[in-house]
Amino acid sequence: MDKFIIQGGRSLSGMIRASGAKNAVLPAMAACLLAPGRSVLTNVPNVMDVRTMRRLLVRLGAKVDFEDNRMTVDVPEKLKCEAEYEIVKQMRASYYVLGPLLARFGRAKVSLPGGCSIGARPIDLHLKGMEALGAKIQILHGYVEAQGRQLKGARVLLAGTHGVSVGATINVMMAAALAKGITLIESAALEPEVVSTAQMLISMGADITGAGTPVMTIAGVDGLRPAETRMIPDRIEAGSLMIAAAISGGCITIEDCRPDHLGAVIEALRAMGVKVAAGDEMVTVEARRRVKPIDLTIAPYPGFPTDMQPQMMALMATATGLSVITETIFENRFMHVPELQRLGADIKIEGKSAVIKGVPESTGAPVMGSDLRASAALVIAGLKAEGKTEVNRVYHLDRGYERWERKLKKLGAKIRRVHEPMAV
Ligand code: UD1
Repeated sequence: MDKFIIQGGRSLSGMIRASGAKNAVLPAMAACLLAPGRSVLTNVPNVMDVRTMRRLLVRLGAKVDFEDNRMTVDVPEKLKCEAEYEIVKQMRASYYVLGPLLARFGRAKVSLPGGCSIGARPIDLHLKGMEALGAKIQILHGYVEAQGRQLKGARVLLAGTHGVSVGATINVMMAAALAKGITLIESAALEPEVVSTAQMLISMGADITGAGTPVMTIAGVDGLRPAETRMIPDRIEAGSLMIAAAISGGCITIEDCRPDHLGAVIEALRAMGVKVAAGDEMVTVEARRRVKPIDLTIAPYPGFPTDMQPQMMALMATATGLSVITETIFENRFMHVPELQRLGADIKIEGKSAVIKGVPESTGAPVMGSDLRASAALVIAGLKAEGKTEVNRVYHLDRGYERWERKLKKLGAKIRRVHEPMAV
C-alpha cells in the first residue's frame, strides 16, 4: 500500500494542466455500450476508477484499449449483461452500465453497491427511473435484476430526500435514449458531467434537449452509432489544486480547465481573500497571506460541490477566524475531521455542520485517508503543516487524481510516494 510523505511549508508556484474529469469518463465509458462498433474517448485520466470501469467493460465483452489518455471501446453486437459484485463493490459508478444494458438488450443484472464511507448511498432513484420506463425490477441475492424488452418513454421525477441525483439522471437519460417515445426527466441534476454525457449521446445520434436545466426531454431513437468524444476537464481536481495553492500561500495557473464549471469555488475563494483570475480555459490563483473565514453550505451544482468540502475544510482550518461548513448531500462526510485534528486543526461537528476555528500553525503527523476527497484534503493540509506529514492509504486518492504527487512536485511541493509492501 502506497503512502505520501510531505514536507510542509513550501509555497506552490508555476503552471499545471487539469486532467480529464473522472466523473465524466465513467458514464461516457458506459454510454459506449449503447452503440455497437468502436467509440473513442480522449483526454481520459489514467486513474484507478477508470481502470476499474475498463475491467467491467471487458468482462461484459467489450474490447478496450487505453494508452496516452486515449481510449477505444470496441462494443460487439452481443454483450454479457451482468456486472458482478466483485467489481461493483470496488466502484459504485459501475451502476452506470444498468441503463445502457437494459436499453440495448432488455435485461441487466447489476450487483447492489452497498454503502460507502461517506454515507448510505441508495440507488432507489435509478430503479424508480427504470421502472417508470417500463422495466420490471427485482432485488435477488444482492443483485438488481432488471427486465424490459422495449422501454417506453415516460415522465420521471428524480428528486429524492437528499435532492437531485447526478447518477440517476445520467443512468435514466442513457436508458431513455433508446426507449420508444418521449421521456421527460424532472428534477434533473445540472452538473457539467450530466451535460457532457448528454452531448456525447447527441453526437451518437440521440435526441436530447434541456441538459443542464431541471427538465430534460429525451426522444428515444432506434439505434445509436459510435462517436469520438473529448472528456471535459476535471473541475474537482482543478478546484483541489486551487485550494492547494491557497493554503501554501503561493500562486499557480491551471491550464485546460473550465472556470465556468468552478463558479462556486471561485466565489468562495475570493470571499476568503484569495485572488482568482479566470480566463476562458485557465485560472490563476494567488494567496499571499492567511485566508479569511467564511460560512459555506454544500449544494448540488451550481452550488459548492460536496466533493470539494473536505479540501475546503483543510483550508478553513488555517483561516484567521471561525468558519462553518454545512454538508447537505452525504450524511457521513466528516470522516476527515479527526485526521485534520491530528494535524492541529480545531474543528467541532454539530449535526450537519462543522465549525472550524482557524489556527495559525499546524504540525505534520501520520494520517489516514478514508475516501477519495478526504485523502486530497489531507494532502492539502500536509502542504501547510510544519514538518513531516505521512498520508497513508493513498489508493483512495489514486482512484480519482492522476499522478497527483507529480503535479504537486512540479509546482514546488516536497512530496514523494513510498511503496510499502502489504503485510502478510
Ligand atoms: C456523483 C459523483 C460523486 C459526488 C456526487 C454528488 C460520480 C461517479 N460520482 O455521485 O463524486 O459526490 O455525485 O455530487 O459522478 N441518492 C438517493 N437515491 C439514489 C441516488 C442518490 O437517495 O438513487 C442520494 C445520495 O445518497 C446522495 C444524493 O442523493 O445523498 C446525491 O447523490 P448522487 O448525485 O446520486 O451521487 P452519485 O451520482 O452517486
